[in-house]
Amino acid sequence: MSDPSQQFHLPIVTSFLEAQRDLTRHIADLQTWCETWCDDVCSSEPDIFNRLRKRLLELHARLLEHFVDEESDGYLKPALDVAPRYTSRAETLQKQHGDFLRRLDTINSRLLRQNQPDFRWADIQVELKTFLDDLHQHEHAENKIMQTAFGDDLGAGD
Ligand SMILES: [Fe+2]
Repeated sequence: MSDPSQQFHLPIVTSFLEAQRDLTRHIADLQTWCETWCDDVCSSEPDIFNRLRKRLLELHARLLEHFVDEESDGYLKPALDVAPRYTSRAETLQKQHGDFLRRLDTINSRLLRQNQPDFRWADIQVELKTFLDDLHQHEHAENKIMQTAFGDDLGAGD
């Protein structure tokens, strides 16, 4: 990384990648937890509603903070300063932030209907799994832009 403009951005890029790693670990932890569900397990686990509700609310707060942080000084700005060709891709990714929060709200709303006759834990499980997979892809795509702009030697850990 000999380009002076890249050196200038390095501290911001490093902290961006640390935050990405942190969130990716959190997502992976939830994915593992989500995998262990099934209708049988849930029906024999009386506290599953409270545990899941707590996790979803934590994830919502964490995502909101993460997205606000990412957008506060210009979304992916260091990468776009040195590689403006990613501007359109970055705009597409940024628009997904609101969608992710809304999807999580929807899953939360469905969870609150747990006493309804048509409620199935397996539906929540599938929806949450899809959500977490998409979120992981989103974070990976952000890392890819940053890494490509600044070189693979940065490492994003995903
Ligand atoms: Fe991110």
